[in-house]
Amino acid sequence: MCGITGAVGLKDISNQLFEGIRNLEYRGYDSCGVALMSGKRAIVVKKNVGYVDDVYKKENVLQHQGHTGIAHTRWATHGQVTKNNTHPFSSCDKKFAVVHNGIISNYQALRKQLKAEGHKFISDTDTEVVPHLLEKFYQETGSVEAAFVNTLRQLEGSYAIAFISIHQPDQIFCARRESPLLLGIDDEVKYVGSDFNAFIDHTKNAVIMDDDEYAIVSRDAYVVKSTVTQEVVAKPVTRIEWDSETTRKGGYPHYMLKEIYEQPQTINNALDVDEKKMDEFVDLLDKKATAQLVGVGTTFYVTMYANYIFSQISGKYIPAISSDEFVSLSPVDGDSFVLAISQSGETYDTISALKHAKAQGAATGAIVNVMGSTISRLVDKTILQGSGPEICVISTKAALAQMVILTHMALKLGLRRKRITQRQYKASLKSLHDLPEVINGILNERSGFIHRIAHQHRNVKNWLYLGRGIYYPIALESALKMKEVAYVHAEGMPCGFLKHGTLAMIDDDVYSIVFIPPKSDKAMYQATLASVAEIRARSGFVLGIHFDERGKDKELFSEELIIPQVPDIVAPFIHLVISQLLAYFTATSLKRNVDKPRSLAKSVTVG
Ligand code: AGP
Ligand code: GLU
Repeated sequence: MCGITGAVGLKDISNQLFEGIRNLEYRGYDSCGVALMSGKRAIVVKKNVGYVDDVYKKENVLQHQGHTGIAHTRWATHGQVTKNNTHPFSSCDKKFAVVHNGIISNYQALRKQLKAEGHKFISDTDTEVVPHLLEKFYQETGSVEAAFVNTLRQLEGSYAIAFISIHQPDQIFCARRESPLLLGIDDEVKYVGSDFNAFIDHTKNAVIMDDDEYAIVSRDAYVVKSTVTQEVVAKPVTRIEWDSETTRKGGYPHYMLKEIYEQPQTINNALDVDEKKMDEFVDLLDKKATAQLVGVGTTFYVTMYANYIFSQISGKYIPAISSDEFVSLSPVDGDSFVLAISQSGETYDTISALKHAKAQGAATGAIVNVMGSTISRLVDKTILQGSGPEICVISTKAALAQMVILTHMALKLGLRRKRITQRQYKASLKSLHDLPEVINGILNERSGFIHRIAHQHRNVKNWLYLGRGIYYPIALESALKMKEVAYVHAEGMPCGFLKHGTLAMIDDDVYSIVFIPPKSDKAMYQATLASVAEIRARSGFVLGIHFDERGKDKELFSEELIIPQVPDIVAPFIHLVISQLLAYFTATSLKRNVDKPRSLAKSVTVG
């Protein structure tokens, strides 16, 4: 949550800072601010509530120049979204300016103590204790580095911190604990960023900081040290594989739409995942007495999907547990394998679950999208899904790619456990390889219809998304898409639940979408149609999405979307793509801020 960027060079870096913070805006966008070293004697701080472009205009930020600077885009955790609560924060003497990502959990005690010592606070944030601590320890030690280390040793909780100081105007100081932070290494300019996007336009060489490390970054050098021992840590330089072009909108009105359309390619990439890596995961899933899948939000729904696919194809029951509930719920030990799913690789809840699993001696693995991310380095084994940058806060292509990898894994496990034959394995794998083509067809031929439906029903207040079996997690994920991008109430539910209570809700204000499975699964198909009939018997509106070519069945559905027959194994993917489009077009019809929906952030690095 929140984006930090910083740049230090010989000449003015204010433009690099602007681009950097804009590229990080998807991480949080309640408010934003900049601190620039103006000459060597003053720090200019500009900040306000709103999006980066607006704040830059309103505050005339680009009128100011500097060769050292930091910037921040906030996703508020402590203190409302106000100008006063916007980062950067300054010390009383204005000689330190600080930005922070995370939560300082002991801030109240520190604040009380600092106030008693005469420090004046202007915000309600946890962050503001940091500049005051720096000032205090600088007065005691006369060294910025010593002041920083002393400050860090006072802080509990999670942080990525960056600051500039009049005392050392040609340097950026930064540190990390449980919130991501990287350095970007270029010849002329050095960068600091919450992720690669902060500096990807300028350099592809990055140093990934680890927990309890701090760095001192100058134009022509940098050093990383341990916060605990203050010894220098030798850090490898990682080459970033993504290019800046893939992060651009490429003609699409929104990243969400671009990323939905990229899915055929991301599926191909997902199918290209190193076979050896896959086999290592399959080994662990097979041999360990218990295995659990963890993820949160969309990735929890991906794990729920995987729970079904592993049961159905490999015969192994691998429960899905929401990362935030994992510690309360899951007994793990040395004979467990915990497999985490995360697009960003930085999600606090999933990191906590993995740390817990590791502490109990469990083997850990992860499927992640962002290389070098915390989760990818925390677990014993990582699969990089290769979906490229996912910028829209709403996850689409990353989730679909994870489902592909997990399906492939389930097929491999099924083969190993002799639940499926070599022939079935090959046929299913071929269906996965054919999937990009099918999705292309849906995107090209059905978008218009979905757009129309979305527009026509844009004022519907409540949607019920219903599915049986493996379509149940698809219903949950589809409802989440609708909620988070269109702010329309939507609930995912198993069809079987209807008659146990939910049918009471059916009236003119509650619309249903039902994911009908292919007819080949006769029992499921009929049971799902029975649920549709139950709703229709109460005059409820039903949009049926199905693979039946017979044409419109006026009796059964209020509205129907017929999609081409596909093999059973890929049918859930088709339903999901349709739901993504439905959510997208509903959001655009309602004029929502698609790529930056309210109250959300791309990577949730706080607990
Ligand atoms: C996705 O649309 C959501 N914004 C959110 O639920 C997200 O999937 C969740 O926070 C997990 O993120 P991760 O995959 O980066 O761990
Ligand atoms: N806790 C800090 C705040 O509320 C930082 C939040 C963030 O990570 O953006 O301002």
